[in-house]
Amino acid sequence: MIKIHNACKRYSGVNVLDNVSIQVKKSGILGLAGPSGSGKSTLLRCLQKLETLDDGSLECNGKTGFMFQDFQLFPHMTALENIVYAPNLSDRSAKRRRNNEKRAREMLKNLGIESKMYEYPESLSGGQKQRVALARSLMVNPDILLCDEPTSGLDVATTMDVVSLLKSVGETGVAMIIASHDLDFLTKISDRIILLREGKIVVDIKTEEHKNPVIYLKKYYVDD
Ligand SMILES: Nc1ncnc2c1ncn2[C@@H]1O[C@H](COP(=O)(O)OP(=O)(O)O)[C@@H](O)[C@H]1O
Ligand SMILES: [Mg+2]
Repeated sequence: MIKIHNACKRYSGVNVLDNVSIQVKKSGILGLAGPSGSGKSTLLRCLQKLETLDDGSLECNGKTGFMFQDFQLFPHMTALENIVYAPNLSDRSAKRRRNNEKRAREMLKNLGIESKMYEYPESLSGGQKQRVALARSLMVNPDILLCDEPTSGLDVATTMDVVSLLKSVGETGVAMIIASHDLDFLTKISDRIILLREGKIVVDIKTEEHKNPVIYLKKYYVDD
């Protein structure tokens, strides 16, 4: 599904990704851990082709969806408009646009925020904005969903909601790569966790094989 081989990315001479190799063979949830600046977002952006590698190769079989950090909703658009905006750019016919809107409504219903369809982001809670952002990223019917810090700025209860929400997306067969600096959250949600430090992979574990993955990962986790 995903084959990253010796990926390198440099910004002004500094290695932000340093010989990163990752293979993902089947769906499941892969957590990308690491302190701030370790290269998590850069790796996701390369997978989404928002950035190019300086060296190495990256193969990704399947459509990717991207959920941006801090939601990145357009403030001047309603929840519904935010969701149909991108697909409508390429779908010009009235019929296709009606279909996009139908799917967006269904998605909002499934995510339990149908009643917020015509609300603007400023009047939504963090958890509701997160659901709109998730709906938007699912509009492309991704095979692989890339999520960058999906719980940043959310309180503990809402974070737990995001755990079950993303797990339910995973159960529909969508593979996920979730970047987060929050080890507790990642451990709850991931089947596998890769820990990056200064652009290098320092740990790659299956979560179920560790009695306490958080304690194990913390040994490698230097946040300075
Ligand atoms: N567009 C960019 N230009 C220059 N440096 C960047 C750019 N994007 C990221 N970096 C740098 O690359 C490093 C890794 O960043 P990032 O991938 O955002 O890390 P993380 O998501 O783990 O916090 C940081 O030192 C950051 O400052
Ligand atoms: Mg980041």
